[in-house]
Amino acid sequence: MAPDLRGAMRHFATGVCVATTYTDRSGVRVHDAVTVNSLTSVSLDPALVSVCLRPDSAFLADLLATKKWALSILDDSAAVAARRCAGDRASRAGALAGLRAAPGAHTGALVLDAPGWLECVLWDSIRLGDHTMVVGEVVAAGVGAHRPPLVYLRGRYHSLDDDPNQDRGVTT
Ligand SMILES: Cc1cc2nc3c(=O)[nH]c(=O)nc-3n(C[C@H](O)[C@H](O)[C@H](O)COP(=O)(O)O)c2cc1C
Repeated sequence: MAPDLRGAMRHFATGVCVATTYTDRSGVRVHDAVTVNSLTSVSLDPALVSVCLRPDSAFLADLLATKKWALSILDDSAAVAARRCAGDRASRAGALAGLRAAPGAHTGALVLDAPGWLECVLWDSIRLGDHTMVVGEVVAAGVGAHRPPLVYLRGRYHSLDDDPNQDRGVTT
């Protein structure tokens, strides 16, 4: 029997990001955004991160063509945007139109108003099983307003109130 990877990983809490890239069609730049929770920090020097995407993803095709993307780490007010950016392209375009975002200075990919963001340039892409891991060199990173992060756990969004006072008494 196949291992219940999905069932086990439901209990692994992750942050939630919106990845953005774009394509230039007849001189018109069309942006796209998808929700991802597979962000991993891979290396500090050089600064590398990875995300895993489905090989048949339209978003992945655009990313591999431009070789540029951005990742915005969402706060707990962004659950609706996360839901919409996990939908089809029309839903994603609608979500993007309603978000506060600006093209990143280094990549042109949209950077959202978010607690943290990264601009990436393609370093490598590797087909692994039923996903493609894209590894990006982080060419710019920034920190926005400190707000409680959006957390994905057991198929639902949660807010993590990381008020430093709550951490008192935590021992290692
Ligand atoms: C919380 C959450 C995390 C997700 N993380 C990923 C991910 O890491 N990789 C992925 O391929 N899809 C992920 N998805 C699904 C994509 O957001 C969704 O399939 C999106 O429509 C993909 O766009 P595409 O049609 O271009 O593939 C996630 C969805 C949710 C709700």
